[in-house]
Amino acid sequence: MSKKLKIGLIGAGGIARGAHMNPGWKIAPDCEVVAVCDIHRPTVEKFARDFNIPQVFTDYRELLKLRELDAVDISTPNKIHTPAVLASLAAGKHVLCEKPLAVTVSEVRQMALAAKKAGKLLMTAQHQRFRGESVALKKWAAAGHLGEVYHARVNATRRNGLPCPPGFIDPKLSGGGPCMDIGVHALDTALWVMDFPRPVSVSGTAKVNFAHGDEIPGAWGEWDRKLFGVEDFAAGFVRFANGATLALEASWLQHQDGEDLSFTLLGKKAGVQWPSGRFYAAPDRVLVDGKIQPVGGLQPAHTEEILAFADAVRNGRPSPVPVAQTLYVIAILEGIMKSSRLGREVKLALS
Ligand SMILES: NC(=O)c1ccc[n+]([C@@H]2O[C@H](COP(=O)([O-])OP(=O)(O)OC[C@H]3O[C@@H](n4cnc5c(N)ncnc54)[C@H](O)[C@@H]3O)[C@@H](O)[C@H]2O)c1
Repeated sequence: MSKKLKIGLIGAGGIARGAHMNPGWKIAPDCEVVAVCDIHRPTVEKFARDFNIPQVFTDYRELLKLRELDAVDISTPNKIHTPAVLASLAAGKHVLCEKPLAVTVSEVRQMALAAKKAGKLLMTAQHQRFRGESVALKKWAAAGHLGEVYHARVNATRRNGLPCPPGFIDPKLSGGGPCMDIGVHALDTALWVMDFPRPVSVSGTAKVNFAHGDEIPGAWGEWDRKLFGVEDFAAGFVRFANGATLALEASWLQHQDGEDLSFTLLGKKAGVQWPSGRFYAAPDRVLVDGKIQPVGGLQPAHTEEILAFADAVRNGRPSPVPVAQTLYVIAILEGIMKSSRLGREVKLALS
């Protein structure tokens, strides 16, 4: 591997610009973004100009021919993740890919096999794990303060935060609505703190309650009602092999106070809330309330995620967000959609 890690970006939209590049790759030591690709030429040319990136592509297959590239960072709409990840691994590149890694278990499995075959690292960009609040909670739980978690309440709900670009609302590009888009953040982080128990069954519902009408004004402007083909609300109930359960709610539009991206873990030793860090326990029959302070001194979470990816690639460490964990997350989210279509609980065949 060259001394400087050479990176190619695929997808030059909002998250690539506002989080992966800036600060992200811009401040990652000994890393250099040498190429960028987007199917929209004006977008990619502006991106390359703004960040001084020498090589510009509108077809990622051309970008992947660059022998000098060590790794790629994919921020396209969800449904492009699988072909872009598979092509990148086949071209011998390490891959960081935005969430949701894919919208079906079968695609995640294909990616896992491809990464193994290529001997390359594949990391899902679950940046919420890299927040100071998450790092602190994980350490606190790992030290045994939470005890066995028997139930989790997981929320990713917004009053009127519906992302308008087609990449989110056209099912051909997104593969799902808020469940895949933001449910994935809170679910992944909660399962990570719970040490990823194996999900065995899911029951769920997914509906459009408001997005076809105009009674709730969107905070980010108007969306194309005709193109809108995903749910605006989903809820699910999950059972795990260890007996634990989890309830998830995800929405872009609903009558509530602002945005709620949070979870509560009910453990045998304490109950804890994320991201507030508030916990409740009763050691020696004394009721105790407390607060876990976030780990300090960190970069923004997206930047910490990129630094972790670069460090793992450079030093041959395992993926900081491994595909095996993402498989459980996507199995649950896909299960909610499937259960909603079938109108019954679905079993998950995972090992
Ligand atoms: N982690 C987070 O906090 C977070 C936040 C927002 C979005 N995301 C994820 O990032 C991804 C992109 O979201 P966004 O908000 O940047 O969307 P966006 O619509 O702003 O940008 C997507 C870009 O991908 C480009 N694109 C589409 N097809 C392509 C292809 N085949 N090859 C190359 N480029 C292609 C589009 O032209 C567009 O510029 C999604 O998967 C989304 O779920 C993550």
